[in-house]
Amino acid sequence: MIKKVCCIGAGYVGGPTMSVFADKCNDISFNVVDVNPDRIAAWNNKDLSKLPIFEPGLDEIVKRCRGKNLHFSTEVHKYISEADIIFISVNTPTKTRGIGAGQASDLKWVESCARQISEHAKGHTIVVEKSTLPVRTGEVIKDILECSQSSLNSKNEKTFDILSNPEFLAEGTAINDLENPDRVLIGGSNENAIKVLHDLYKRWVNEEKIIHTNLWSSELAKLTANAFLAQRLSSINSISALCEVTGADVREVSRAIGKDSRIGSKFLNVGPGFGGSCFKKDILNLVYLANHFGLPEVANFWESVIDLNIWNQDRLTHIILEKLFGTLTEKRIGILGFSFKANTNDTRESPAIQICKNLLNEGASLKIHDPKVSTKQVALDLGIPSIEECSKNKELNKLYIDKKWEKSHLENDFFDNLDAVIVLTEWEIYSDINWEKASKKMRSPGWVFDTRLIVNEEKVINSGLSFWRVGVGTVKRD
Ligand code: UDX
Ligand code: ADP
Repeated sequence: MIKKVCCIGAGYVGGPTMSVFADKCNDISFNVVDVNPDRIAAWNNKDLSKLPIFEPGLDEIVKRCRGKNLHFSTEVHKYISEADIIFISVNTPTKTRGIGAGQASDLKWVESCARQISEHAKGHTIVVEKSTLPVRTGEVIKDILECSQSSLNSKNEKTFDILSNPEFLAEGTAINDLENPDRVLIGGSNENAIKVLHDLYKRWVNEEKIIHTNLWSSELAKLTANAFLAQRLSSINSISALCEVTGADVREVSRAIGKDSRIGSKFLNVGPGFGGSCFKKDILNLVYLANHFGLPEVANFWESVIDLNIWNQDRLTHIILEKLFGTLTEKRIGILGFSFKANTNDTRESPAIQICKNLLNEGASLKIHDPKVSTKQVALDLGIPSIEECSKNKELNKLYIDKKWEKSHLENDFFDNLDAVIVLTEWEIYSDINWEKASKKMRSPGWVFDTRLIVNEEKVINSGLSFWRVGVGTVKRD
């Protein structure tokens, strides 16, 4: 009987996943632990609007379960020692140095977890890889755990089973993805351990959707799923550039190809390029793996998906520059959206970061709006303090004199004296902007650049502003 579950890592994956588990399995205690005390304090904040991550529907579940069978704590060792199942849900960023730098994942956090588990676990424990990991990480975890097994005498015997159970949730729809998954993947070799995890999921997931594979297939399937999704986006984004110059409309092309049941209609929305913590990292892992096993053609194929994504972000900067008479010096540009997609406060790999940096380098000053991303986060991502911070410090002011940005509310004065507005994230509110009012505040000729195809075309055109849309090009007045 499973009584206690521990999840190491209270991030975008661990937090929502354990919340849904707790909601579905009231008789089991779920303890989410993290080394970061600020993160845990935020998860325990009475004010549910202050949870460390924004995810629609998450606050209601936390309200229902927290303090009952869902706990957030920094007491990593204690909860490891009590657990029947431990999920590893820590970060695995791309290595920045050494062999595989820029491609392979840095496994130091996973290794540190395995070491802590090996030291503090008691009795029999099922260890589940939840983080996206390079293929054969299970082996590393197994090796570390087996060391502790063999170093003990029979009285203190601890035993482990290792499973891979990759998470396929997407941010912004995490709760629905967890409650109604397309599939649950459990990789491993021990049938008893697989059955334990299978039985937890089957409380709310139709058993036909629970797939069993070997450990390595499960790890590779996760990387492959993300690589295929990202490849689809680079494909449609490449076609969007062709649409803009030929007079085709990418929305019509997407609709036409999406009707082919072999292609399907999902994941064909063009944009400034894909972001998020997984796509780039997972493809880089595939590239590293392919090169490692002497398959450079495979590596080059997948690397081109990332190259196209980088090119797409830079080409948007070129288009904006060209439309604004070839110079952005002393031009004021409004940025609508900074998160990598709508309905999340996550900015990891957000295309807005590179595009804003490009615009600042060209001399533009930026007014940035995002409903959920904090000013502090924008400053961290851009690596440049805001105008407000600079104004308090002469040195900073001098250093960043030609790289000015501020975070702003989306009120009427947002548009004051702007030369252009660029929509970078598809937040719902941006589809309902009063462009009539906005255009009166902007400098003429004012431009709107819509990289997400969500702006109301008629309203922009009627306001007299010039309008450019990704995959369509400059929209002509009738
Ligand atoms: C992704 C996978 O979808 C998920 O299964 C995996 O577990 C983690 O990685 P996530 O990164 O949260 O999830 O978001 P996703 O919805 O996949 O979007 C990724 C990026 O692609 C975003 O920048 C998004 O704006 C972009 N995107 C997505 C498009 O540009 N067009 C689309 O049609 C879909
Ligand atoms: P993800 O998107 O994969 O959930 P995050 O970066 O949002 O990634 O979250 C990972 C969390 O794991 C972070 O809050 C980090 O502090 C935590 N973490 C990393 N290593 C350890 C460890 N050894 N023990 C406990 N928590 C850890």
